[in-house]
Amino acid sequence: MDTERIGIEDWTELQRNLELTIPVYDRINRFATLGQDKRWREMVRSRLPAEGHILEVGCGPGTFAEMIPSRELTCLDPIPAMLSVAEKRVNSKRERPAIFIEGTAEEMPFEDESFESVCSLFSFRDWYDKRAGLGEVLRVLKPGAKMVIVDPAKMNRIHGFFGWLWMRVWVGAYARIICGVKDHPWKWLTKTYVTFGTTRDYVRMMEEVGFVKVRAKVVFPGMATIWEGSKPEEGKGCCSNC
Ligand SMILES: C[S@@+](CC[C@H](N)C(=O)[O-])C[C@H]1O[C@@H](n2cnc3c(N)ncnc32)[C@H](O)[C@@H]1O
Repeated sequence: MDTERIGIEDWTELQRNLELTIPVYDRINRFATLGQDKRWREMVRSRLPAEGHILEVGCGPGTFAEMIPSRELTCLDPIPAMLSVAEKRVNSKRERPAIFIEGTAEEMPFEDESFESVCSLFSFRDWYDKRAGLGEVLRVLKPGAKMVIVDPAKMNRIHGFFGWLWMRVWVGAYARIICGVKDHPWKWLTKTYVTFGTTRDYVRMMEEVGFVKVRAKVVFPGMATIWEGSKPEEGKGCCSNC
């Protein structure tokens, strides 16, 4: 099981399925998380610095972006249809429009040190090369600036099995009813969950990539872990060897 990468064919198929979720995205998420997803998004918001330009990587249909209407915001996503839905939804509630850009975490179309913070909500799991994506996040963050991620990591394999059961049976049945087809796009949620690693795997990865002050909190076992990490301040390496 590769917890770092998704092969390009699988990733392309995942993206095709994610696009199909757009009309029911919020509804099924709310059901799948027993209404907790909003609270978890609020926890991410409260961990972001109070000022400065935020980048959201994998903004999807704008579910989080619409919760920060007064912040300077750039949203990145590889799916043009997601960006178009998000742009209408988010900018209709803002005085100063947010910027929506097509692209991936692994190859960000931004200058070095462009942002005061980067966040990614329920998207990190879908990145096709998580280590490369984290490296890009580090590049575009200003020195000392912070990244916050939320995604459903498991604590161990047994725990992962119950998470899989939950998504396959409970969420799967609901998605089948809402989408009206057996072969619904939410099957990919289960697939990406199975290959996603543990909370510790990504603490380690963030540290290896060069983040400092890395910590993680399991907010709801199997459904939400929040990771935080910062880019080292200028002149300070990530470790005594730097
Ligand atoms: C499940 S949605 C998350 C939407 C939103 N952030 C939220 O709070 O619900 C995941 C999004 O991640 C995007 N994504 C997938 N792979 C990505 C990558 N390599 N780089 C950036 N975004 C990616 C998908 O296109 C999709 O819109």
